[in-house]
Amino acid sequence: MNLSDKKATLSISGSNETIEFPVYEGSVGPDVIDIRKLYAQTDMFTYDPGFLSTASCASGITYIDGDKGELLYRGYPIEQIAVNCDFLETCYLILNGELPNAEQKADFDNQVTRHTLVNEQMHTFLRGFRRDAHPMAILTGLVGGMSAFYHDSTDINNPEHRHISAIRLIAKMPTLVAMAYKYSLGQPFIYPRNDLSYTGNFLRMMFANPCEDFEVNEVVERALDRIFILHADHEQNASTSTVRLCGSSGTNPFAAIAAGVACLWGPAHGGANEACLQMLEELQANGGVAKVGEFMEKVKDKNSGVRLMGFGHRVYKNYDPRAKLMQETCKEVLQALGLENDPLFKLAMELERIALEDPYFVERKLYPNVDFYSGIVQRAIGIPTSLFTAIFALARTVGWIAQWNEMLSDPEFKIGRPRQLYTGPAPRKVKKIADR
Ligand code: CMC
Repeated sequence: MNLSDKKATLSISGSNETIEFPVYEGSVGPDVIDIRKLYAQTDMFTYDPGFLSTASCASGITYIDGDKGELLYRGYPIEQIAVNCDFLETCYLILNGELPNAEQKADFDNQVTRHTLVNEQMHTFLRGFRRDAHPMAILTGLVGGMSAFYHDSTDINNPEHRHISAIRLIAKMPTLVAMAYKYSLGQPFIYPRNDLSYTGNFLRMMFANPCEDFEVNEVVERALDRIFILHADHEQNASTSTVRLCGSSGTNPFAAIAAGVACLWGPAHGGANEACLQMLEELQANGGVAKVGEFMEKVKDKNSGVRLMGFGHRVYKNYDPRAKLMQETCKEVLQALGLENDPLFKLAMELERIALEDPYFVERKLYPNVDFYSGIVQRAIGIPTSLFTAIFALARTVGWIAQWNEMLSDPEFKIGRPRQLYTGPAPRKVKKIADR
């Protein structure tokens, strides 16, 4: 962190004293006021529910400029990564800070590929779930359960253990997600195959069965790989902050990532892609394009509780660069699969057209986010709606683990412990039960 020449000065009414706080500069983006001594100096906390103005950490992994619609992984624009790199190269970059050369890439791909099998006992663990369990419920349990299977990589103070657990998590997530899917169908689990790419292998574990192998379609493989790249990290979002907070207690990586999976499940975060597709399907069943206007009135009515899922973002207030890339992929996949006239895609386009012209959305700077299109792509590929968020979790695992690792390596690392503004009763006496 670079100390700036600037200082922030605070004066509090009723006192003649002013207090100065140091300011740190980021490499790009806003500076931060270091208020760590505020409480000691003023006996006051800051109040910022939802972290609207609070940097919870310093991080060198991902940068977002919400006004410009810019997303960088380790300084590289997402638009360049999406067309020049595959998902495992992106993982290497996010974990290590630099893009791999050919030799490093081959070595990293090999490491991940050699860890895709899960302990056979995990199959038994999974069989304890109901067949109709939500994949995110299963995934939260399985990822947390990994700490019981891989004891030999849970020493968080050992960088080698941290590296192995990162590789294990990235490698085993596709296997676990595919297992959750196969279990819901009542089909046998398909073991990973080392001669396929990371994404090709995942597609095969999802769609092959023992009686019939599965041929990986290149367009589909590229599309899913892009979904993984676009979801790989997104700085201090809710699930990443959850992983950091959970990991700050010193818990093992599998437990911390399981907390991230649980947080991601919510419809305001990773659950939005599932919620978006459900919204489109419901609208399609209730009149489709003809009813878009009526639906939009409901969205704009605060009392209806209806939101246009896949629209809006806490940080992107211009456009979501991932959405642009996903829209491209969406068109490519629908064309390759002969689904250009897919009614849901047409409905989504109509919703987008109306929203982008409507003053309600324009004034609030609400634009389509990545989930608006990713659901349509996944549906076209044959992935069931209930699995969308699990796919997001699979992709975000690298971001979570890189951020967790960065936190543990930070010399300023401390357990996360937010403060509060207490608004409950002042101290009072407990009356005997007969007197209450
Ligand atoms: N539909 C209708 N109105 C909306 C929407 C929406 N999707 N999003 C925000 N608004 C309105 C909101 O009612 C509020 O209006 P007003 O100022 O009149 O009260 C204003 O826009 C600001 O909304 P907010 O809830 O204060 O914004 P936020 O930054 O707290 O929320 C959000 C961001 C993503 C939770 C929200 O936009 C939302 O619920 N979107 C739908 C869910 C979604 O698509 N989430 C995926 C996010 S991208 C994937 C990821 O990173 O996880």
